[in-house]
Amino acid sequence: MNQTSTSNQDWNSSLYQEKHAFVWHYGENLLLFLNPQPNERILDLGCGTGQLTAKIAEAGAEVIGIDSSDEMIEQAQQNYPQLQFKLADAKNFQLSQSVDAVFSNATLHWIPEADAVISSINKSLKIDGRFIAEFGGKGNVESIVKALYVALEKIGFDNPSKLNPWYFPSIGEYASKLEKQGFEVTYSQLFYRLSLLQDKDAGLANWIKMFCGAFFKGLSEEEIIQVINDVEKQLKLKLYQEGNWFADYRRIQVKAIKK
Ligand code: BEZ
Repeated sequence: MNQTSTSNQDWNSSLYQEKHAFVWHYGENLLLFLNPQPNERILDLGCGTGQLTAKIAEAGAEVIGIDSSDEMIEQAQQNYPQLQFKLADAKNFQLSQSVDAVFSNATLHWIPEADAVISSINKSLKIDGRFIAEFGGKGNVESIVKALYVALEKIGFDNPSKLNPWYFPSIGEYASKLEKQGFEVTYSQLFYRLSLLQDKDAGLANWIKMFCGAFFKGLSEEEIIQVINDVEKQLKLKLYQEGNWFADYRRIQVKAIKK
């Protein structure tokens, strides 16, 4: 995920840990890209329940995990009491000591104020420090978003896109934001990753309940179920295969160096 209360999203850390482990399993590839070294200081931005923070620590780096959800931070600290976690806002955090690398998996699409986030990252990095991130890119979960809009319109919403909490930039847009703040972008890619959702028939409903709270403020439980059923019906042909649901993820990966 892993970021957090800046949007209209409430986080359920148990549902996240139990049913959405794929979020950090996919993030493990990004760790190869980070390549943490012993004694480096590394920030895990949007650490969620801490699984990737712990992997960074296993490499011998000194790591701090931050997240803006207190539920997530509490769970992370419970999972890994030996590690350092802090409640902080990605748009506006300060570290007591600068870091060699900022790592962020599946977080930055929750924060439309990308310039503020990049500025905080910039201030926290040493010169020549690296920023390694993966998050939802342009076109991410496009079928799910479209189906949600259709279902919400059917129950009377005029303009459901107003409720969309996500920021899914293109490579060009995000790289130029980084360059404007003095980063050198050394790598970026945008790619599809059809992602298997846990729990068989309940997979898409679980995903929607976990991540789509911003669309459901003020709706009754019955209306939410109606919307979820409608979305499932619209997407069955496209995202349901052999008893499993998939999400049409599209990720952006970035590596940038602070100059
Ligand atoms: C994502 O990881 O791409 C994502 C997760 C939840 C909502 C939207 C996107």
